[in-house]
Amino acid sequence: MNIVIIGTGYVGLPSGVGFAKLGHNVVCVDVDESKINSLKEGKLPIYENNLEEAFLEVVNKNLTFSTSYSCINEADIVILAVGTPQSNDSEKADLKYIFAATNEICKNLKDKNKYFILATKSTVPVGTGDKIEQIIHEINSDIDIVSLPEFLREGYALEDFYNPDRVVIGSNSDKASEVLKELYSHIDNDKILITSRKSAELIKYASNSFLAMKIHFINEMADFCEKSGANISDVALGIGLDSRIGGKFLNAGPGYGGSCFPKDTLAMLGMAKEFGVGISLIETTIKGNNDRFKKIVNNIKDMLKDIDSPKIGILGLAFKNGTDDCRQSPAIEITKELIKNYQNINVYDPKANQNAKSILNESINYTNSIYECAKKCDLLVVLTEWDEFKDIDFSKLKDCVRVKKIYDTRNIINLNEAKKYGFDVINIGVKN
Ligand SMILES: NC(=O)c1ccc[n+]([C@@H]2O[C@H](COP(=O)([O-])OP(=O)(O)OC[C@H]3O[C@@H](n4cnc5c(N)ncnc54)[C@H](O)[C@@H]3O)[C@@H](O)[C@H]2O)c1
Repeated sequence: MNIVIIGTGYVGLPSGVGFAKLGHNVVCVDVDESKINSLKEGKLPIYENNLEEAFLEVVNKNLTFSTSYSCINEADIVILAVGTPQSNDSEKADLKYIFAATNEICKNLKDKNKYFILATKSTVPVGTGDKIEQIIHEINSDIDIVSLPEFLREGYALEDFYNPDRVVIGSNSDKASEVLKELYSHIDNDKILITSRKSAELIKYASNSFLAMKIHFINEMADFCEKSGANISDVALGIGLDSRIGGKFLNAGPGYGGSCFPKDTLAMLGMAKEFGVGISLIETTIKGNNDRFKKIVNNIKDMLKDIDSPKIGILGLAFKNGTDDCRQSPAIEITKELIKNYQNINVYDPKANQNAKSILNESINYTNSIYECAKKCDLLVVLTEWDEFKDIDFSKLKDCVRVKKIYDTRNIINLNEAKKYGFDVINIGVKN
């Protein structure tokens, strides 16, 4: 099939690579000229686990890039994958990129009778498909507007593309549903769910809100463990083995972040208010997660209170492992607060130093390894769960730090190894 993907970011690009690898002709369109130029030259503008290898197999073959929308005239399916950030002045999703792209599609349509499917992968509020349809149908009423929410996890984007838990097709047209089922013929039929467009739009927000609640829940349990003497790892395992609960998203940590959960929980709240529906669980989750960043910072302050001009080493800046994405990363939020309070801060992330620089100020010291970051530090704080941090060489680390103390907010440090070299590791959800 001929597929056009509008918006070539953390969703559009892996999706484009995935569809091209399946043999479709894919054009990825973006308004960001430098991004498109870099892609045309075979260079990825983002880091995503395993993406580069797959990208290099298809780039400039059946995967091409453009800043022009004219390719939509050859498309069987046009996929919208532009950003839907939080509005500056409300909880709601800002749909300016969605409607800019919709208007560009209208402007570039040559044959006003040509059929294609316009599928929205961007996360959009319930009813957005209706608004897109209204605009598009003024030009061509044959085009089917479908919601095709994306559930990929950054760091596992390609893995999730080939083997998703489910594909939700929110379509009010049988014809469009059939074409999209064909597009996803590499996925088992029982994983494909056809719903109304509005239901599909809500499934995405409801999923992210539920996952955010699950994280907040386990973090509160971790707080309880810290006071009561229970151990959060055992508790998470014990409750996760219940198939009604499930073990995923039960890792206690510094709070959730990233480009989706914070804005999607807020947008869910905004939608609920608009419809006059109370969703207190999500409201509490949002507040609790924001408070969590402050709590971690206060814990760090407490650990350093007896040291004059302490030096802190931050390990991890990306919002999770496997990606360079720092958007609303807990690590970034926590580091921002630390910068206000401390002058000597080293940071290190295996992939995200560059992105972090564009958000944080320059007064901190960006380093290129765990050991450089740890140099003369009084406290190391692990904020992202990179595998590299699980394999720290403590025989090397012990000669770098000033004080052998690690605050591991991801509970990934090898405690036996750390202990062997005299390190004091403070975990989340354990009475210290
Ligand atoms: N990142 C994720 O893990 C993830 C997962 C599931 C769903 N989503 C949703 O997918 C959507 C995209 O997210 P993302 O993280 O890929 O965003 P992103 O910011 O990484 O990428 C969006 C891209 O769209 C481009 N763009 C903006 N306006 C455009 C226009 N008019 N025409 C063409 N291109 C335009 C931008 O230049 C950018 O490259 C969002 O709605 C997000 O909520 C994201």
